[in-house]
Amino acid sequence: MQPPKDYGGAGRAIQGQIYSLGAVGHKPKVPTDPLALAYAASNKMTPEAYWYVAGSAGMQRTAEANVTAFERYQIVPHMLRDVRERSTATTVLGTHVPAPVMFAPIGVLEMAHPQAEVAVAQAAASLGVPMVLSTQGSRPMEETAASLGPAPMWYQLYWSNNNDLMRSLVTRAEAAGAQAIVVTLDTHTIGWRTRDLDLGFLPFAKGMGLAQYFSDPVFLELVKQRVENPPPKDASIPAPRPTLAALGTLWSQASHYPGNTFSNLLSGYPRAAVETFLDVFPCSGIKWTDLALLKSITKLPIILKGIQTSSDAELALRYGVDGIVVSNHGGRQVDGAIASVDALEVVARELEGRIPIIFDSGIRSGADVFKALALGASAVFVGRPWLYGLALDGAEGAKAVMERIIAELDITMALAGVKNLSEINQRCIRRAGAASGAKL
Ligand code: GLV
Repeated sequence: MQPPKDYGGAGRAIQGQIYSLGAVGHKPKVPTDPLALAYAASNKMTPEAYWYVAGSAGMQRTAEANVTAFERYQIVPHMLRDVRERSTATTVLGTHVPAPVMFAPIGVLEMAHPQAEVAVAQAAASLGVPMVLSTQGSRPMEETAASLGPAPMWYQLYWSNNNDLMRSLVTRAEAAGAQAIVVTLDTHTIGWRTRDLDLGFLPFAKGMGLAQYFSDPVFLELVKQRVENPPPKDASIPAPRPTLAALGTLWSQASHYPGNTFSNLLSGYPRAAVETFLDVFPCSGIKWTDLALLKSITKLPIILKGIQTSSDAELALRYGVDGIVVSNHGGRQVDGAIASVDALEVVARELEGRIPIIFDSGIRSGADVFKALALGASAVFVGRPWLYGLALDGAEGAKAVMERIIAELDITMALAGVKNLSEINQRCIRRAGAASGAKL
């Protein structure tokens, strides 16, 4: 069945389905309440998997601020406006979206569900909603793209230390059907993530979330070179003792690396591959002028993810990028940073629509989507909520979460008195307390 091209008016049917099932005794397997959803996922996932996803930097202050800051923006509903005919569809940088939401790039999805990206692609395909594929994926991008079918695909890139690898990843993404490249700027080194540190857990060390690399000819050549010419060992680091956990890590690395797991175990390639990844992944040296390299590699729209200030947004314009994502990586990078929605308010005001802004970090509901649009976003990325749905019920769960966020957006539009996305603007929202006594 073809997915809808527009979800305008669909909210009531989606809501009606849930009530109809309730009437015959079936409560939703995947909760609609965002807190209940996260709680249910926490009971289903291993502590390592759950906290890798739910956890953030340091004392978790940015992640909390991302969510609570939405309380400061309040929707102002208008009445008697005939909102029977509604539209949620729009176009973002040439990509048609039936509703202004996209599956945010999230890596290591195998921790939520064995089908990982393939399940999410099925969810995105059945909704017709774009999926942004992560460079830290658990499945090669070509396999995910095949499951996405005609649903739009964007590709999220981490700037690598190795230009040939970056060129290869971008070229593959383009060949697989990506319609835009989203460069994540805020994770050139992994933030201080206390939940993961206290569990001593980094999925990449186990070979998880490295499928784009393990399927890449340039990367595999780097691994071969490392095996043939191993770098000198650091004598200050003692050789690890052969504990059960160490064996588990070796097994995990070997089973993620292409080829036979037993032969891999003896070959030394999987371990060299993880070490190679750790060498090429972070590039803290990237500068604005380096964007020219990416422009020389691809003609696709380039979108910078991680912008939090209007000065960086101006620089993005000056360096000729096509769009920005106002994001703080879900609070995973800098503890105690500005809430992303507060950054959106400022950046959108200064940019005055000169390039599209996508919003990310803190969206939990359709009402949040409405607020982000009213503040000037063209669309939003949704992250953790659909991952929790994926953990609870695979493709169906991821789909249910996104569909309900869209349904709530549609219903919120109706109840706020707007018919389409262009009517969602500053007049639909106010900052709590800012306008007390003022005419609304
Ligand atoms: C990587 O993108 C992460 O946030 O874990």
